[in-house]
Amino acid sequence: METFGGERGWIKPFIHLVDNAISKIGLVLVTTAVVAFFFILPVEIRQGAQHPYLGILFFVIIPSIFFLGIVIVPLGMVRKLRREQRAGKIPEQLPPLEWDNPEVRRLFKLIGIATFVNIIVGGYYTNATVTYMDSAGFCGTACHTMHPEYTAYLDSPHVRVPCVECHVGHGTRAYLESKMRGAGQLLAMALDNYERPIPTPVRTLRPARDTCEECHWPQKFGGYRLDVLDKFAEDEQNTPSKTVLIMRIGGGSMTKGIHGFHMKPGVHIEYAATPDRQEIPWVRYQSPDGTVTEYAVEDWTPEKASQYEVRVMDCLDCHTRPSHRFYLADRAMDRALSLNLIDRSLPWVKKKGLEILEAEYQSTEEAEQKIPAALISYYKKEYPKIYEARREAVERSAQQLLALFKRNVFPEMRITWGTYPDHIGHTDFPGCFRCHDEMHTSKDGKVIPQDCSACHELLAIEESDPEILTSLGIQP
Ligand code: HEC
Ligand code: HEC
Ligand code: HEC
Ligand code: HEC
Ligand code: HEC
Repeated sequence: METFGGERGWIKPFIHLVDNAISKIGLVLVTTAVVAFFFILPVEIRQGAQHPYLGILFFVIIPSIFFLGIVIVPLGMVRKLRREQRAGKIPEQLPPLEWDNPEVRRLFKLIGIATFVNIIVGGYYTNATVTYMDSAGFCGTACHTMHPEYTAYLDSPHVRVPCVECHVGHGTRAYLESKMRGAGQLLAMALDNYERPIPTPVRTLRPARDTCEECHWPQKFGGYRLDVLDKFAEDEQNTPSKTVLIMRIGGGSMTKGIHGFHMKPGVHIEYAATPDRQEIPWVRYQSPDGTVTEYAVEDWTPEKASQYEVRVMDCLDCHTRPSHRFYLADRAMDRALSLNLIDRSLPWVKKKGLEILEAEYQSTEEAEQKIPAALISYYKKEYPKIYEARREAVERSAQQLLALFKRNVFPEMRITWGTYPDHIGHTDFPGCFRCHDEMHTSKDGKVIPQDCSACHELLAIEESDPEILTSLGIQP
C-alpha cells in the first residue's frame, strides 16, 4: 500500500537518510522552534509592545533554533549517505512508505513525541516566560547595564510599577520603536559597546499624561506639605539639625502653588533647552485665560532657537527621578545617620564617612574591600578605646557605609555621585533655578520669580531645635 507519495518521489530517500542520530537532533530543534513560535505568536500580536524583550525570543532566539535544526538535518543525512557509499551498502530498493517500515515509524514517533512534549512544556512555561520577561527583575538584572536603575527603583515609591509602564508606549509606532531598541540594545550588549553611563534624558519615555496621570491626578494632589529634613554637621559630634519647609504643592485646580502654576488645565509651557536640558534660555508660558508671556535670557534672539530643542513641559521636567533617584554623598550620609543606620555617636563619623565615600574606586569589588576597612582602621588607630568598647557599632556602620556606596555609585557603568541630575529642587542641581533665576525676563519686564516663599515657606534652616516643631507638637 503506497500511502506517502509516488515510487519516484523524494520522500523515500529522505525518510531513509534522515533516520540517523544527528538529523534527529535537528528535527527535534525544528519541532521545538515551530511549537514555541505558535505559543508566542498570539502574545506577540496582542501585546508585543509591552514586552520589549520578548522580541528577542521571537525574532532572534526561536528563528536561530529553527535554522540551526534546518542546517543539522541535511548534515546528518549527508554523513549517512557517505557512510553507506563507503561501505557499499546503499540499498537497491528502499522499503515502501507504510507503517510497517520501521524508518517511517521512528520518524513519526520522534516528531509526535517531540511535539507532544513541547506542547506540554510550552503550555506550562510560555505564560511564566512572558511574565518573567515582562518583570522589573528581568529588565533590571538580565542585562547588567541596568543594574543601577534597578537598584534605585527597588528603593523608590514606584517599585510596583513595571518598567515598561513608563518606558514603552502604546500603539504601532511605539511597538516598532520598542522592537528596534530592544534589538539595538541586544546588539550593543553583545558587542560590548553600549554607553556608560546610559545617557539621560531619555527621549523615548511614554508621555507623562499616559503614565503618571494614570495614578496621580493633577487636579487632586495638592495643598501644603510639611517637610522636615535631618542634617548632620561635619564636626566631632556630627551635630544634628533640622530644616523645616512647607512646600506649596498646590493642586492643578488652584491658582497658587507649584502644580497649580505649571499643571493646571489650560496652562501650556514650552521651553528651549540644550540636549541635556540643563540650560534653558527661553520659556513660553500660556495661562488658562490664553495670555501668553515669553521669557528669555538677555542674549537670546529668535534665530538661536534652531540650536536648541523645544519641549512641552510636563511632570518629568521636575520629577526627573521618580523611580531612579541617586543621592549625593552628603544626602545619603544624612539619611543613614538620621535612621541611625550609621551610628551617629561615633566621633567624626559624618566627615570621615564622606571622605571615604567620595574617594575613587575603580570597581565595586575594590570598594567592597576598601570602604569598610577604611572606616574600621580609622577608629582602630584614632580612637582605640571607642573601637574596643563599641566594636559592633563601628563594624555595622562600616558595612552601612559600603551599602550607601553600592546604592548610588556604579563604577562599572561610570556612574558616580551626581551623574544623574535630580531637578526637583535647586540645592544639589540647578533644577527649578534653570528657569527661576530672575534672569529670564519678558518684554514688559516680568521675571520668572526666585522669591524664596513662592515655592515654600522656610520655617527653619539647619536649626538644632526648631521652635516651630515644638509648637506643632512633633518634636520628640
Ligand atoms: C515611574 C516611571 C518609571 C519606572 C517604573 C521605571 N522608570 Fe526608568 N526612567 C524613568 C524616567 C522618568 C527616566 C528618565 C529620567 C530623565 O530623563 O532624566 C528613566 C530613566 C531610565 C534609564 C536611563 C538612565 C537614567 O537613569 O536616566 C534606564 C536604563 C531605566 N530608566 C531603566 C529602568 C528599568 C530597568 C526599570 C524597571 C526596573 C525602570 N526604568 C522603571 C521612569 C521610570
Ligand atoms: C501605577 C501607579 C503609579 C504610576 C504610573 C506613577 N505613580 Fe507616582 N506614586 C504611586 C504611588 C502608589 C505612590 C505612593 C507611594 C508611597 O506613598 O510610598 C507614588 C508616589 C509618587 C511621588 C511621591 C514620592 C515621595 O517620595 O513621596 C511622586 C513625586 C510621584 N509618585 C511621581 C510620579 C511621576 C512623576 C510619575 C510618572 C513618571 C508617577 N509617579 C507614576 C503610584 C504611581
Ligand atoms: C514645576 C515642577 C513640577 C511639575 C511640572 C510637577 N511637579 Fe509634582 N511636585 C513638585 C514638587 C516641587 C513637589 C514637592 C516636593 C517633592 O515631592 O519632593 C511635588 C510633589 C508631587 C507629588 C507628591 C505630593 C504629595 O502630596 O506628597 C506627586 C504625587 C507629584 N508631585 C506628581 C506630579 C505629577 C503626576 C505631575 C505631572 C502631572 C507633576 N507632579 C508635575 C514639582 C512639580
Ligand atoms: C522650564 C522653566 C521652568 C522650570 C524648570 C520651573 N518653572 Fe516654575 N514657573 C515657570 C514659569 C514660566 C512660571 C510662570 C511665571 C508667570 O507667572 O508668568 C512659573 C511659575 C512658578 C510658580 C508661581 C510663582 C508665583 O508667581 O507665585 C511656582 C511656585 C513655581 N513656578 C515653582 C517651580 C518649582 C518648584 C520648580 C522646580 C521643581 C519650577 N517651578 C521649575 C517656569 C519654570
Ligand atoms: C521655584 C521654586 C523655588 C524657589 C523660588 C526657591 N526654592 Fe528652595 N526649594 C524648592 C524645592 C522644590 C525644594 C526641594 C524640596 C525637596 O527636596 O523635596 C527646595 C528646597 C530648599 C531648601 C532645603 C534644601 C535641602 O537642604 O534639602 C532650602 C534651604 C531652600 N530651598 C532655600 C531656598 C531659598 C533661600 C530660596 C530663595 C533664594 C529658595 N529656596 C527659593 C523650590 C524653590
